Amino acid sequence: MAKLPFCVGLTGGIGSGKSEVTRVFARLGAQIVDTDAIAHQLTGPDGAAMAAIVSVFGAEMATCTGALDRAAMRNRVFSNPELRKALEDILHPLIRAESVRRIDAVNSSYALLVVPLLAENQAAYRPLIDRILVVDCDETQQIERTAARPGLNVEQASAILASQASRASRLAIADDLIDNRGDLPRLNEQVERLHVLYLKLAAKGSAQI
Ligand SMILES: Nc1ncnc2c1ncn2[C@@H]1O[C@H](COP(=O)(O)OP(=O)(O)OP(=O)(O)O)[C@@H](O)[C@H]1O
Ligand SMILES: [Mg+2]
Repeated sequence: MAKLPFCVGLTGGIGSGKSEVTRVFARLGAQIVDTDAIAHQLTGPDGAAMAAIVSVFGAEMATCTGALDRAAMRNRVFSNPELRKALEDILHPLIRAESVRRIDAVNSSYALLVVPLLAENQAAYRPLIDRILVVDCDETQQIERTAARPGLNVEQASAILASQASRASRLAIADDLIDNRGDLPRLNEQVERLHVLYLKLAAKGSAQI
């Protein structure tokens, strides 16, 4: 495979604003490769991960459409690190391989690879990424903003936050930072500035400013 296109890796904790940031980059013309979307597809109806999941975890992990029964799997791996690792060992190589395929197919100036757990999985993804962009806000904002969306309450959001890499360890790997403690127009401005930077770096073929 020839050299992959210039690739920015976007990460941030739960509710930090990754999806909002991604929307703005997409509007500006960057093509997005979203590892969460890939994971969903792999575990959707007859997805490429389902045969291995059923063979390791049993047929009861699949719904009648051949998709992952997400609630059943959550119960199964909840507080069982060995089973969680068995699931990750199935999913991660497939997610990474599909990420490479999609980055390779990008025809915008650069690709934005969204990896929510990049700090936790640096070894797998760092080789694909030229520059790491971290979106950051206060932990209280992460929890408030997450709980304000449908789906998770404050307790669930707090538990997920606690299970993720620390804010400091994400900041430590950042080449670039979006400070999302402010409002959405502030977030927009920062993304617009970074887009210009990434166009320049991609044109130079260099990760360094
Ligand atoms: N600067 C902001 N001001 C107000 N609301 C915001 C801001 N940034 C994000 N939000 C809102 O907070 C919520 C969380 O943001 P978003 O969904 O982008 O985070 P995320 O990092 O993608 O979360 P997840 O980890 O769950 O995927 C969303 O409802 C979003 O619209
Ligand atoms: Mg999101």
